[in-house]
Amino acid sequence: MSMQTSIALGKQYLLDTYAQVPVVFAGGEGMYLIDEEGKKYLDFVGGIAVNALGYHDAGLSAAIAEVVEKGLLHCSNLYYNTQAIAAAKGLCTLAGMDRVFFCNSGAEANEAALKLARKFGHKSNPARTDIISMVHSFHGRTYGAITATGQDKYHVNFDPLPQGFSYAKFNNLESVKALVNEKTCAIIVEPIQGEGGIVPATVEFLQGLRELCDQKDILLIYDEVQCGMGRSGKPFAYQVYGVKPDILTTAKALAGGIPAGAMLTCEKANEIFKPGDHASTFGGNALAMAGVNEMVRRLNDPEFTDAVQQMGSYLREKLVQLAALYPTLCGEVRGMGLINGMVLTVSPRKVVDACFERGLLVASAGYDVLRFVPPLIVRQQDIDKALAIVEQALASLL
Ligand SMILES: Cc1ncc(COP(=O)(O)O)c(C=O)c1O
Repeated sequence: MSMQTSIALGKQYLLDTYAQVPVVFAGGEGMYLIDEEGKKYLDFVGGIAVNALGYHDAGLSAAIAEVVEKGLLHCSNLYYNTQAIAAAKGLCTLAGMDRVFFCNSGAEANEAALKLARKFGHKSNPARTDIISMVHSFHGRTYGAITATGQDKYHVNFDPLPQGFSYAKFNNLESVKALVNEKTCAIIVEPIQGEGGIVPATVEFLQGLRELCDQKDILLIYDEVQCGMGRSGKPFAYQVYGVKPDILTTAKALAGGIPAGAMLTCEKANEIFKPGDHASTFGGNALAMAGVNEMVRRLNDPEFTDAVQQMGSYLREKLVQLAALYPTLCGEVRGMGLINGMVLTVSPRKVVDACFERGLLVASAGYDVLRFVPPLIVRQQDIDKALAIVEQALASLL
């Protein structure tokens, strides 16, 4: 079947929810995705910050094969399974948190956090139901998560939305303080805003939120769905800032490409949920947990996270140089570790398409940012090659 025929079938049968690039991928190797016709693409999207180990990783393949070999993919949370217990211990230790609830996606991890926050509020006062999130945040597509998402475009046509959410300005503590009242039970924030345009929080902002939450007995929730699992150059971005949350959510790279999400808790958030309060059929599924165990094993190696820091610095340095060469097209470069963005004066889609034609996958973030979230195994020569293509793409737009 030709790739055009495959695409036509995809258009016929898949619900039309994505503006998809006309390519069908069938395989992958290292930093490259391979389409149905055998063309290779250097991948700086990584499944949008999911494929931390790239493609065809030997360790991940072996972990999956072991689970398949033993015959247990799934056994329901009516019972424990070996993989989930190991993943729970490993992930909590890596994250410096106490307990974890496993689910299947970032949105679900955030739903769990929002529900837990409301139950926490209810314990002291049934009117303590309100949650503050940030403008330009992104927390997922389920109802609680889109409502927490501080971007109107995700709300239009889907009302009525759940009540009790308000939006403060990111990196502006005064704007958060202005919204806090006796009804506030939680504040949710991405330590590095992803979909909103790759904007790292300032350390002062997170410290200020921590103090505010401690003073008012409010839960501080970090959404590390995109910036967690090694992407910042530490296992979790909060470890770069040194400001700990009460709840941390993560997903995307959590199982190296197998769907998985997690909500981690510590101290006052540990004892809120009781049996029956929350559940997920697939949460803690043995196959997904094998992926989590392999990711945890890799992130426990400081060489792995050090390389993320080094490659991240190299990428940012090269992006700054590139932006200086094309000042009419490029603006600020920002990010941390291997989550980086370059502001553009033209539509990012134009650069994304021009890179695609030249065999490089990059994505946009927000309305004016070109996003770079490559697999965490990226090497210097991959960065050189990718930026040479971005340069050609920019030159073609002059
Ligand atoms: C910070 C953040 N939170 C939540 C989500 C939602 O994750 P999922 O698509 O797995 O539901 C995303 C997805 O991009 C995200 O970047």
